[in-house]
Amino acid sequence: MSYPQEIQNIQNSFKTAMNLSGSPGEVSTSPTDSFMNSLPHRTSVSKQTKALKPFSTGDIKILLLENVNKGAVDILTNQGYQVEFHKTSLPDDELIEKIKDVHAIGIRSKTKLTEKILKHAKNLVVIGCFCIGTNQVDLEYAAKIGVAVFNSPFSNSRSVAELVIAEIISLARQLGDRSIELHTGTWNKVSSKCWEVRGKTLGIIGYGHIGSQLSVLAEAMGMHVLYYDIITIMALGTAKQVSTLDELLNKSDFVTCHVPATPETKNLLSIPQFAAMKDGSYVINASRGTVVDIPALVQAIKLGKIAGAALDVYPNEPAKNGAGLYCDQLNPWTSELVSLPNVILTPHIGGSTEEAQRAIGVEVSHALLKYINEGSSIGAVNFPEVSLRALDLDQENTVRVLYIHKNVPGVLKTVNNILSDHNIEKQYSDSNGDIAYLIADICDVNQSDIKDIYDKLNATPYRISIRVLY
Ligand SMILES: NC(=O)c1ccc[n+]([C@@H]2O[C@H](COP(=O)([O-])OP(=O)(O)OC[C@H]3O[C@@H](n4cnc5c(N)ncnc54)[C@H](O)[C@@H]3O)[C@@H](O)[C@H]2O)c1
Repeated sequence: MSYPQEIQNIQNSFKTAMNLSGSPGEVSTSPTDSFMNSLPHRTSVSKQTKALKPFSTGDIKILLLENVNKGAVDILTNQGYQVEFHKTSLPDDELIEKIKDVHAIGIRSKTKLTEKILKHAKNLVVIGCFCIGTNQVDLEYAAKIGVAVFNSPFSNSRSVAELVIAEIISLARQLGDRSIELHTGTWNKVSSKCWEVRGKTLGIIGYGHIGSQLSVLAEAMGMHVLYYDIITIMALGTAKQVSTLDELLNKSDFVTCHVPATPETKNLLSIPQFAAMKDGSYVINASRGTVVDIPALVQAIKLGKIAGAALDVYPNEPAKNGAGLYCDQLNPWTSELVSLPNVILTPHIGGSTEEAQRAIGVEVSHALLKYINEGSSIGAVNFPEVSLRALDLDQENTVRVLYIHKNVPGVLKTVNNILSDHNIEKQYSDSNGDIAYLIADICDVNQSDIKDIYDKLNATPYRISIRVLY
């Protein structure tokens, strides 16, 4: 393509992305994404590596349920795999029928992969949870039958951080209340106790994926950032780590929680912590429902100690969407909480954006590919994490042996005896509880050697499953 033509194409894409020529009602994705996706693909200049394939790629069957993101479907289909896509979860009997001969299954939170279901999966190698949690899978049983499970715990960090930024400004300006009032016909123009966020201090509890993203965004708005974490973490920008939770509470105008749910973080913010906070400060929790003691928060707001709160998570949350589900039967303090001023309540939507869904789709499908094609289990939640560097293109007669086995003494001796007729170019092994996983690259092997290696490893008493990639 000539250079001016390329510029012209980019300009056209830009116009389309900005919706300049589209109809007013046309649904568009974010302009930046559309624009970036329309740019010509760059050719990779990195060193070419040998593509390892399990066997004929067309034979790999992947079952994708619950409307996983289209990006994931495309990535897996483009590999040449047979992808079966369903918008919903399947009833158990249908799932059992389908899981019998698939090599990989992709689910979200509704499909329960219990032992009862998984024991029918004769060819299953890997499960992809296209979501954050993995409670819906019997992880222990999956590991026991040599099936690795992957998820995407951090793809929505940015979405949560952006929601918290919105909440900081909304609380400072009492936006929720003004909006509800106007929706019900009340004009109430006030400036008393409404603030700019510039120059105020944000206290972040938990400086992990979300807390640190938030730190950068908050500083860009002119806020000072303090953070408290149980481990020492390098500050981003001019944020400052404090050594006690009390110091953070004493000095912050906004306190936001970004910690996991652990016994230590249960009611991390309760009566003593609210008492230690500045008068008229704000509380935000988009982490887990157990972290803030909500009845104590209700009292602190009623006393005027806390000027407002934004909550996205609750100790008990409804399992599905619907009217009337957020009520006192769910959590006994609900009606008291909803009647308070300047309290923003959202239904666990911190990570719920199109971008996060797409990022989850890409991350999990790549994890599936890396595991199917290369044996890399990095990021698996139920499995030893093992990986070997890729093979070079010219390594024609090298095979990769993947041996999942019981974690008992004597395995390596037996396995290396079997492999010892060949040059083991590299090898890595690790264990996690009762399960261990070994990867080895073996040079100078021909077709009959491959069969011989496979049969001998298959006959070992420790074997859980074997794959040979070449
Ligand atoms: N609202 C949502 O939709 C949504 C979406 C994604 C994540 N989350 C939740 O947000 C929370 C944070 O997620 P993340 O991805 O940033 O996690 P992360 O693991 O990256 O970071 C958590 C941080 O908390 C720190 N920490 C742990 N215990 C602590 C304690 N007692 N005191 C202080 N710091 C402590 C850890 O050291 C770590 O730095 C998690 O609970 C996660 O489940 C919510």
